[in-house]
Amino acid sequence: MTSVTVRVPAKINLQLTVGPLRPDGYHGLVTVFHAVSLFDEVTVAPAAADSVRVTGEGADLVPEDGDNLALRAVRVLRKAVAGRDGVAVTIDKRIPVAGGMAGGSADAAAALVAVNELWGAGLSPRELRALGAEVGSDVAFAVLGGTAIGEGRGEQLTPAPAAPATFHWVIALADGHLPTPTVFRELDKQRADQPGRQDTEPALSAELMDALTAGDPVKLGAALSNDLQDPALTLFPELRKTLAAGREAGARGALVSGSGPTCFFLADSAEHAAKLASALEGAGVCRRALTATGPVAGATVVAKLH
Ligand code: C5P
Repeated sequence: MTSVTVRVPAKINLQLTVGPLRPDGYHGLVTVFHAVSLFDEVTVAPAAADSVRVTGEGADLVPEDGDNLALRAVRVLRKAVAGRDGVAVTIDKRIPVAGGMAGGSADAAAALVAVNELWGAGLSPRELRALGAEVGSDVAFAVLGGTAIGEGRGEQLTPAPAAPATFHWVIALADGHLPTPTVFRELDKQRADQPGRQDTEPALSAELMDALTAGDPVKLGAALSNDLQDPALTLFPELRKTLAAGREAGARGALVSGSGPTCFFLADSAEHAAKLASALEGAGVCRRALTATGPVAGATVVAKLH
């Protein structure tokens, strides 16, 4: 094999409920991941030594050294299957960098799936998800795709019961970025400032599960929730205008994606999504507004050259 290309989706969190900080520096959480049709493409080829090259959306913000999550994934896979060659990784980005859509995790997931194929290593999707969890909290979901409940630090996954419905989303890209650890720290700070606050274990939203089972966008819009939204809004106050503009333009739901600053909006149809996207761009409350559908499949091989 001379190269393998994998397409991998971004995620949004339909629910993100964050529990107390754990001794290992992570937060226990309950989340509902949803893969949307905004994709990065990752190509891998044999090489004398590992390398990575990044092109596309926000490429200048992505490290092109050993810290790159895709290269970390290659090293984790190499250790698991012992003694393979170097890999040249090329990443073509569409998923916003540090945008709360797990773009780096997506690239790591894509690298695992692609190199497994390149080397004919024969690891199962379940084994690839377990290796992914060593690289980052959202990597396992990017391998799985669809709509899934995440527990632990997000890596313990169960596919969500859902009607075979397609939802129409608008993704508003922000002019800036928010590092995930900073947003979690702001949440901890805000919680520490609330006297008498009890730390309760996070629980799955029954309202959200009902909405997904019914495949109903009105119910789904009302059930969206994100504990990281308030801290993200504190750090990036302009997002309040973005969310308000989407609601005013008739979105069924409006939420910060993960740790932000990307925001997403639920529409009734593809036409409604296109109208919402142009209203958001017209109001000047985002850098760009893209339409997307979900759920979509996780990391998938799209090309192989022999
Ligand atoms: O696992 P990942 O590298 O994607 O996480 C990035 C950072 O986000 C962690 O170092 C941690 O600060 C924060 N995080 C957290 N709790 C989680 C997931 C991530 O505090 N469940």
